[in-house]
Amino acid sequence: MEPSPLELPSDTVQRIAAELRCHPTDEQVALRLDEEDTLKHFRECFYIPKMQDLPPIDLSLVNKEENSIYFLGNSLGLQPKLVKTFLEEELDKWAKMGAYGHDVGKRPWIVGDEIIVGLMKDIVGAKEKEIALMNALTVNLHLLLLSFFKPTPKRHKILLEAKAFPSDHYAIESQLQLHGLNVERSMRMIKPREGEEILRMEDILEVIEKEGDSIAVILFSGLHFYTGQLFDMPAITKAGQAKGCFVGFDLAHAVGNVELHLHDWGVDFACWCSYKYLNAGAGGLAGAFVHEKHDHTIKPTLVGWFGHELSTRFKMDNKLQLIPGVSGFRISNPPILLVCSLHASLEIFRQATIKALRKKSILLTGYLEYMIKLYFNKDIGGTKKPIVNIITPSNIEDRGCQLTLTFSIPKKNVFEELEKRGVVCDKREPNGIRVAPVPLYNSFHDVYKFINLLSSVIDSVETKK
Ligand SMILES: Cc1ncc(COP(=O)(O)O)c(C=O)c1O
Repeated sequence: MEPSPLELPSDTVQRIAAELRCHPTDEQVALRLDEEDTLKHFRECFYIPKMQDLPPIDLSLVNKEENSIYFLGNSLGLQPKLVKTFLEEELDKWAKMGAYGHDVGKRPWIVGDEIIVGLMKDIVGAKEKEIALMNALTVNLHLLLLSFFKPTPKRHKILLEAKAFPSDHYAIESQLQLHGLNVERSMRMIKPREGEEILRMEDILEVIEKEGDSIAVILFSGLHFYTGQLFDMPAITKAGQAKGCFVGFDLAHAVGNVELHLHDWGVDFACWCSYKYLNAGAGGLAGAFVHEKHDHTIKPTLVGWFGHELSTRFKMDNKLQLIPGVSGFRISNPPILLVCSLHASLEIFRQATIKALRKKSILLTGYLEYMIKLYFNKDIGGTKKPIVNIITPSNIEDRGCQLTLTFSIPKKNVFEELEKRGVVCDKREPNGIRVAPVPLYNSFHDVYKFINLLSSVIDSVETKK
């Protein structure tokens, strides 16, 4: 039977269990969910690390030939098999024709980034001309802030989350210092309420309403790296702009994970990396967005020759013809080997579509949440069983695929035991373990196996006490 469009993940799991006449925790449920998954074949497009190749593995606990349970796509996405093919195409071209490769072939190097930028449109919800693929994330953040952050004595603050990713924190701190501003006065950080992990939208909106007149730029993450909270980007944008602020987002954990509509939301600027959900490999080519409404008003502060119109770029007359919009922010010629790996991944996204991926992701993460709550629920009173708490919001609209877990037993022990058994996830200070089932290459059976491993890990940590 087809699920109704409004069916919650927990309802789907229970419905399937009822159809199969088994308990929701039964392996058959996971297998049925995989069977019904129309995106399951995309797993074959990736190399899934084998147990035996993971450095922390304990071979006495696993079958070394088996695939690991890779739940770390929120940190580094897996390698698409197509990457090698695409890299070889450009390496061959380089070997065979040297500099002629700049102008010919599937990806003429001088326009390598432009060849693939159209594949990013649907992923971030922007027009092609509003996107540039260049540099790394923090570099792009700096370049964007150099243009959007023009403090005045009255409007001098940058608003951000108190626990923003360190690189964003340092970028903002150093931008304020660049303008000779007092960091304490101008770096306005919003904290969750006492005893809470998640920022409440009403608190964010209240700060914008109260202090908006003194805020020049609001820079939030789209999805928080630690808690997994997905912020209401359209609401933050609307509220900030109503107060005259520019609103930008670091989309490192949102891009390729949730649906984005940067153009329609009217976001002023955004930047992202490509090595997490976009699977382009460590240090991959990053992205930047500037809304087209700024095409003729916001200019790059630092300029290089790739910001010059292509038609006259090679006249070498030193008369800058700046490309309007974000393309004018490009400084150097594109790194073609990085273009190749990103191209390979974006090609898979084109086939899968972000809409369908998000739909699967909601069910996949919902299944994980359901199972965690069922196995490690707080309410199983009196048993003194260790508790696993999920700090990521439970509401589907307020999260992506990642869940951040905390434990009533030491997280370090849980993490090490999971690693020994071939679960690839990570621990983050102060006390979370982040797990991210990724719809492109994770299965419902991965989630099932993870839950069983987590159960035996918790038992083993308990008995060692
Ligand atoms: C939210 C966020 N912002 C910024 C960065 C830094 O990215 P980069 O090293 O590519 O500049 C990361 C890296 O993981 C991140 O997660």
